[in-house]
Amino acid sequence: MASAFLHDIGYAPEVKVTGFHPLDGARHLRRLGFDERIVGLVAHHSCADIEATFHQMEGLLAREFPIDHRLPHDALLYCDLTTGPNGEALSIDERLVDIRARYGPEHLVSRFINVAEPEMRAAVARAEDLLSTALILV
Ligand SMILES: [Fe+2]
Repeated sequence: MASAFLHDIGYAPEVKVTGFHPLDGARHLRRLGFDERIVGLVAHHSCADIEATFHQMEGLLAREFPIDHRLPHDALLYCDLTTGPNGEALSIDERLVDIRARYGPEHLVSRFINVAEPEMRAAVARAEDLLSTALILV
């Protein structure tokens, strides 16, 4: 839950250094002494490893924040990509349309989404499977 609230903190003007917000946010949280699990989730949120290639920072991200696959990356991506900018519930289809409309087709974010979309959809599907299992068990 903490990573869901904090994942985009790297966009804050006071936190922005490189302009690659997962890296800037994770560095900021590490400096403040946050739990490394939260730091790692922020560093790798929503296919940041793919976005890093658009910033020529994939090596830097992996070195500073080695990915821990035991962390709930799919759950965080699910929250990010099924919630609109004003907190409204969206399908992943609606969310991707919203992102592309806000940034425009040539923007780095839209180009990143074009590459990451299959992995984003797969992560949302995995999270939905887990959610449906959890609902059956309740
Ligand atoms: Fe983000």
